[in-house]
Amino acid sequence: MAELGLMSMGVKETYGGTDAGALAFSLALREIAYGCASTAVMMAVTNMVAEVIQYFGSEVQREQHLPSFGSGHYRTAAFALSEASAGSDPAAMLSTAQKHHDRWLISGSKQWISNAASAGVFVLWARTSEQGNKGLSCFLLPAGTPGLSLGKPEDKMGLRASDTLPLELDGCELPLDALLGQEGQGFKIAMHALNGGRISIASQCLGIARAAFDEAKAYAKEREQFSQAIANFQAVQWMLADCQTELDAMELLVNHAAARKEQGIDYSQAASMAKLYASEAAWRICNRALQIHGGYGYTREYPVERHLRDVRATQIYEGSSEIQRIVIGRSLLS
Ligand code: CAA
Repeated sequence: MAELGLMSMGVKETYGGTDAGALAFSLALREIAYGCASTAVMMAVTNMVAEVIQYFGSEVQREQHLPSFGSGHYRTAAFALSEASAGSDPAAMLSTAQKHHDRWLISGSKQWISNAASAGVFVLWARTSEQGNKGLSCFLLPAGTPGLSLGKPEDKMGLRASDTLPLELDGCELPLDALLGQEGQGFKIAMHALNGGRISIASQCLGIARAAFDEAKAYAKEREQFSQAIANFQAVQWMLADCQTELDAMELLVNHAAARKEQGIDYSQAASMAKLYASEAAWRICNRALQIHGGYGYTREYPVERHLRDVRATQIYEGSSEIQRIVIGRSLLS
């Protein structure tokens, strides 16, 4: 994937990236998710980390890390924000970073970290002061840093080829220039990154839902009951009609958010709307696709049960549907 330029799609060519733009990135993610939703998560999170380093990193940090995304030296990268008791509310995190002479000492634990097992670098958040969300800072933590240990992979319902692990940080020592952006800017960096990440998840939804829909359409034409293809029944046609309508609506919302990002216009509300709608519509589409397959859809013999399991996560990660509604609501009223 790195050879194809898929792991550094937002990175400038001077740093070895593809610099393809937000819309092209979204289109590529849809195609990868059509084949494998887990691979799409690895791609989405890795690109999100690369973009955050490019946007907030110093020139030295960019030169140090970004070429490793395009070359594949970093197989993936990880976004270490959440903790056991700080998921929807990252400002409640407990991990700390303390300045000690010429080092940062980082201690605590992280939860739900996608790509942790294969990441070459982590962007990691820790508390540098007690000032709520203004007390968070962001760091670049290379894999293999002494004191960093990986926990047992989560046994997830779906996205089973994508690893999700907890992390332990036991006095990890980092140089002072491992700070990404300014001290206390961590929350804003996370929100900025997640705005882009939400377009990625909405793109992933499009790929998964289209895969399930294509399976359902093909099956409906081939499966016969009452001496005819079930596609002849209006009940099935209506389900397919609803799927196509929702797929088109998803696509318009995702394209709109990606186009705003590419044009440099504020896209936080558009990204949340795309993610909210796409993740909930994709769930309905995968569920209808399974229903059209009847009992066979409930077995591992057909891929629709995998699509349904995979797509469920999209209503949860990178901000649950409830969080997206908060972001949209606050933006409408601000
Ligand atoms: N874009 C830009 N700025 C934003 C923002 C956004 N989407 N959301 C909030 N902000 C800004 C606010 O404008 C505010 O700025 P000022 O201080 O200048 O006024 C500041 O951030 C604080 O905002 P709030 O007061 O609204 O903060 P809050 O604590 O009430 O929380 C929240 C806001 C929207 C609920 C936020 O906590 C949130 O997005 N939570 C969800 C976290 C999340 O998505 N986690 C995903 C984990 S990572 C993951 O899943 C990756 C993976 O591996 C797959």
